[in-house]
Amino acid sequence: MQSAATVFEAPRSENSLSWARHSWRGGELAERLRNAPRVNLGSWPTPIQRVTRRGRCDLLVKRDDLSGFGRGGAKTRKLSHLLGHVRTNAHGELLAVAGNVTNLAFDLLQASGAFGLRTRLFIVNDPPATPGERARIFAGVLGSIELLTCGRAEAAAVVLRAYAAAWHAGRKPFLALPGAFHPACVIGNACGFLEMVEQLESQGAPLPRTVFVTAATGTTVAGFLLAADVLRAAGGPPIRVIGVQVHPGRIRLQTLALTRWTERFLGTNHRTPVHPTSFVPSRERFAHFGPGVPRLCLQVEQELGLRLDPIFGGKTWQAMQADVAANAPDDRPLLYWHCGYTPEWKTLCASGAGRGEVTS
Ligand SMILES: Cc1ncc(COP(=O)(O)O)c(C=O)c1O
Repeated sequence: MQSAATVFEAPRSENSLSWARHSWRGGELAERLRNAPRVNLGSWPTPIQRVTRRGRCDLLVKRDDLSGFGRGGAKTRKLSHLLGHVRTNAHGELLAVAGNVTNLAFDLLQASGAFGLRTRLFIVNDPPATPGERARIFAGVLGSIELLTCGRAEAAAVVLRAYAAAWHAGRKPFLALPGAFHPACVIGNACGFLEMVEQLESQGAPLPRTVFVTAATGTTVAGFLLAADVLRAAGGPPIRVIGVQVHPGRIRLQTLALTRWTERFLGTNHRTPVHPTSFVPSRERFAHFGPGVPRLCLQVEQELGLRLDPIFGGKTWQAMQADVAANAPDDRPLLYWHCGYTPEWKTLCASGAGRGEVTS
């Protein structure tokens, strides 16, 4: 990674970027994305860092890790739109489910607390870990979460009972699936993608030819695919979106289902293609990676000052490097979307979740 220069753009206020300036924004779907309800979390737009590399195209880094709320990352975008949806629809209680490897759960508690929303967060023991390991992973929020020890089917029954109880109490609950797998969150991420496009356009800078982003549930990549297709359909340049899987699960199918759900939610006939080529599969399970990934994270931190964890960001960076090596160089830059950092990644990797030795 020979970098000649790295330029860091200061964040500006959202109002300084007028969406109406750009012809591709005229589409009806862009309008619906723009008007989706949201609450104020974080500070936007997040900066774009430009890394100039000798003899190679520029690398852009969209610094959503600097979103200024909680752990940072595209999660802030998900949560601001999710809470916007919950408030607009007068839900009186938020029920949320997460697994042992989660960043979103920490930020969700902080966000719902900030808006005084009654919240119950259930943590399923998946990937499995011992009680001591879970206590370490969730240190600091143990009083605000419900650690489930049962299997998945029983966990689903617990959550459904909580939903029914809240409903009968007249609180009109909203159930957030793991990863905040919901159209409101896809829309939040689609708006993030459009934000990146308008930042670059307002500087007269070329748009990236490819955007690399981590895919765990597929919620973030679904938003990016949707926004990239809205841009292309309105005459903008094609931008390839690559979701780098952090586990070998069916993330493409999840992304496809969530994309179609989002299109229905938005009331549009637009159909975003969700091709297998938009995903880099993972041979490693969740929280598993080869020894090269932590080394790469260290190298990126030393050379570019970017903190990546090997579970999410490191795998994505590695896949981006492999793609660069396999494809012909281009004038347009590449963009790495920094989705945030997992501070307890070492604990997670040393735990049953990472070793895969503990069974539920
Ligand atoms: C650090 C990090 N990167 C990326 C993601 C993207 O995840 P998803 O595909 O669920 O939107 C997450 C979500 O948990 C994350 O914590």
